[in-house]
Amino acid sequence: MNEAISLLSNYDESSLDAAFSTLAEEVRSETASLADVEAFRLRWLGRKQGRLKLVSEAWLKSAPADARKPLGMRFNQLKQQIEAALTDAETAPPALAAKAGIDITLPGSVRAPGNEHPLLKTMNEVVAVFHRLGYSTALGPQVESDFYNFEALNFPPNHPARDTQDTLVLAGQQTKASRDRLLMRTHTSPVQIRTMIAEAPPIRIVVPGKVHRNDAADATHSPVFHQVEGLCVDTNITFSDLKGTLDHAMKALFGSAVKTRFFPSFFPFTEPSADVQISCIFCAGKGCRKCKQSGWIELLGCGMVDPAVFASVDQQRVAQGKERAYDAAKISGFAFGMGVERIAMIQHGISDIGQFYSGDMRFLEQFA
Ligand code: DAH
Repeated sequence: MNEAISLLSNYDESSLDAAFSTLAEEVRSETASLADVEAFRLRWLGRKQGRLKLVSEAWLKSAPADARKPLGMRFNQLKQQIEAALTDAETAPPALAAKAGIDITLPGSVRAPGNEHPLLKTMNEVVAVFHRLGYSTALGPQVESDFYNFEALNFPPNHPARDTQDTLVLAGQQTKASRDRLLMRTHTSPVQIRTMIAEAPPIRIVVPGKVHRNDAADATHSPVFHQVEGLCVDTNITFSDLKGTLDHAMKALFGSAVKTRFFPSFFPFTEPSADVQISCIFCAGKGCRKCKQSGWIELLGCGMVDPAVFASVDQQRVAQGKERAYDAAKISGFAFGMGVERIAMIQHGISDIGQFYSGDMRFLEQFA
């Protein structure tokens, strides 16, 4: 039931203004959060008990003749205000949106579909090349022990990589035996050891993952970066297999026109070891700024698994009650490791490694 409309004691213009503005304000506050449009219509325009009807009875009928016109004008204005509010409510938002103060006529906020980060994209590409050759993926922890990261990989006790200058070591490890001390893995190579201890040959694995070094960040270095490691162990694996596999992988990644060459190098866990270079993809080997006029770009390290590595794997297997499976007289293998950032930078012509980690959408969207 509507509240009664109190009678007007005065019909002069300012009294009319005051009386109608109270009603206009009522309409405005009701329409600001209009939940039930029909109830609003009834309350104001209802034929018998609507407020307009009551107003007309209380004010219009008893109005002196000269007040009829100003009163009628104001009455019509109020009616228009109510009708306009009703039209708005019918053409616009459902009550819920209006109630929550949501303007559903505004454009929606479009959520961009997710996409691979350029580094993950490159890492997955590398991994996929080896999956097609029959390799499977193996993973290992980023917090690693000195044993897996260094000792079993034939790093001598005083190798500079073991120094805190180069390796991020965990606090409070001094009381432990050297091989049990925990550190952030400096390469993905420890997963070679973990896999061989767990499984007998044949082994064909790729190991994508994050590695950490105590390096200052600059245009080409980051203390956290990514590698893909590879290991192949079987009977009669030769250096030719290594060369053929990596030559194929480089062509798959950079295009079939790319050439590879192998240089003697050194890693404690491979013998012989090599650095692999690819012909410069920017100048096709002619010599440019990117390849420092050499026509070649150095990309990864590799080599034949050192018998000392097989020996420490077997020693560990025996300690765990497993059979020896890595007799260097019967089996052989090759390993390789490459930096994902470096490959992605070459693929896309990126000169600052920091862009990968900046989270700048303008950079990242270019790879979507
Ligand atoms: N672990 C080496 C590094 O981080 C890369 C590497 C070189 C891995 C030769 C290998 C390899 O498996 O055979 O610098």
